[in-house]
Amino acid sequence: MVLRSSPLHVLAQWPGGRSTRFYDFKVQTTRITKLCNTKDIVTVNGMYPGPVVYAQEDDRVIVKVTNESPYNVTIHWHGIRQMLSCWSDGPSYITQCPIQAGQSFTYEFTLVKQKGTLLWHAHVSWLRGTVYGAIVMYPKAGVPYPFTYPYKEHIIILGEYWLKDVVQLEKAVLASGGGPPPADAFTINGHPGPNYNCSNNDAYKIDVVPGKTYLLRLVNAGLNMENFFSIANHRMTIVEADGEYTKPFTTDRVMLGPGQTMNVLVTGDQSIGKYSMAMGPYMSAQGIPFQNISAIAYFQYLGALPTSLSLPARLPSFNDNLAVKMVMDGLRSLKSGHVPKEIDQNLYYTIGLNVQQCHSPTPQQNCQGLNNGTMAASMNNISFVKPKISLLEAYYNRINGQFTEDFPGVPLKFYDFVNGAPNNSPNNTQSMIGTRTFVLEYGTRVQLILQDTGTVSTENHPIHLHGYSFYVVGYGSGNYNPQTAQFNLVDPPYLNTIGVPVGGWAAIRFVADNPGVWFMHCHFDIHLSWGLASVFIVKNGKGELETLPHPPADLPRC
Ligand code: C2O
Repeated sequence: MVLRSSPLHVLAQWPGGRSTRFYDFKVQTTRITKLCNTKDIVTVNGMYPGPVVYAQEDDRVIVKVTNESPYNVTIHWHGIRQMLSCWSDGPSYITQCPIQAGQSFTYEFTLVKQKGTLLWHAHVSWLRGTVYGAIVMYPKAGVPYPFTYPYKEHIIILGEYWLKDVVQLEKAVLASGGGPPPADAFTINGHPGPNYNCSNNDAYKIDVVPGKTYLLRLVNAGLNMENFFSIANHRMTIVEADGEYTKPFTTDRVMLGPGQTMNVLVTGDQSIGKYSMAMGPYMSAQGIPFQNISAIAYFQYLGALPTSLSLPARLPSFNDNLAVKMVMDGLRSLKSGHVPKEIDQNLYYTIGLNVQQCHSPTPQQNCQGLNNGTMAASMNNISFVKPKISLLEAYYNRINGQFTEDFPGVPLKFYDFVNGAPNNSPNNTQSMIGTRTFVLEYGTRVQLILQDTGTVSTENHPIHLHGYSFYVVGYGSGNYNPQTAQFNLVDPPYLNTIGVPVGGWAAIRFVADNPGVWFMHCHFDIHLSWGLASVFIVKNGKGELETLPHPPADLPRC
């Protein structure tokens, strides 16, 4: 008998660049004191925020994650394209089963043509609340930035901090049927700053040399809130969003939803002093309690008295939708001409909240949602239900019964999405449930309209697609109308997370050229828990670089 290795076994990873970067992530519980309260949180390597992954464009990155915590863990590399490495994407029950206590898993991927700032975070329960960090990807050696070289750079991670254990918190909120409590504090690089109890000295600070220009790598790693960020008396020039260069755009404030990243340049061109950097809430929905105290950090010139009062940073009011639109309008890709002009697959997904009828024998405890129901969320009015094993394994190994391939490409019923309810409006606000996927042939050019609904309350939802960035070719308010919608097919921003305007829509385009099982969901963890999610299965193409390799040997078992 002649032994020949089947072609499947020689399948290559996506070819990497010159270097491989190794990281060792130990997920562990760490004692921390914040807001005059000492507790255990889950961290990576005892750091909060976690370690920064530094690499260069086209590098191979290998991260060994060992779970020394008592919880199930996965890590997601948010915004990494994961060419042919869907197994390393990280969303629990989508591309892998969680890494159980005492186990480890090694993530491996290539940063194909990627540079800029992204983030990594836990992608299981609400552990992302403390398990997160930045990914910094430099251009290849000898390739300059398309903007003034900064004197120094700083990472600024916006976060939310809970005094309660976040894993228990998710369980309690889901069991209640109602909404989540607001975070106990906003944080900048883990520090709440002087507006919070016991936090006068728990504030992050950047030392500024007068006249120099700084690159700030802004990351929003929060759980359930979108945030404004501004610096007193200083303007910011956005040069990159979601790890892609943009045309320089100068603004007094920015807004980032959870999962979004932005690089901005700031020049120390004001008089010597101590200036505040502020992070505050952007809340576009009605009737939801939220944290309204700003986290404060300092932008402090050398020569300023450390004890001097800081100049306050002005933030837009929490419901300033126009401020959000102005930042959106300013985002343009640096280079033109890469947007797919022809479309093979037109999709239309509604996104929004629902209230299900109470089915609990103990409604007092379990049906604390609106109208004594339980809160839910959906895409095309289908609330996503997590499967028992990972969808990618189920798909790859043809295991039946875990999912269906019938996610509808358009809403099952068209009505006034912004002002109505899906079933016999205005009263029935329920959704269906299911683990439904939409299957795309390799290479399909996709246009997807994301339409916010007002079934419960309209809201700006940060929708994130795994495995791809997409061109945001249009957005607007109200119901999407193809007759009047205006598209930018020249230089739209290329993002991985889009804040779909409150009571409005966004149109995105991408080419399905990366085989695998790709999650798409609202990046508010509460909405994800409630089912505001869907899955694309992208089939293999023909060539070696169009085929998903076998799973790694250490892929965790459920
Ligand atoms: Cu950053 Cu599925 O998420």
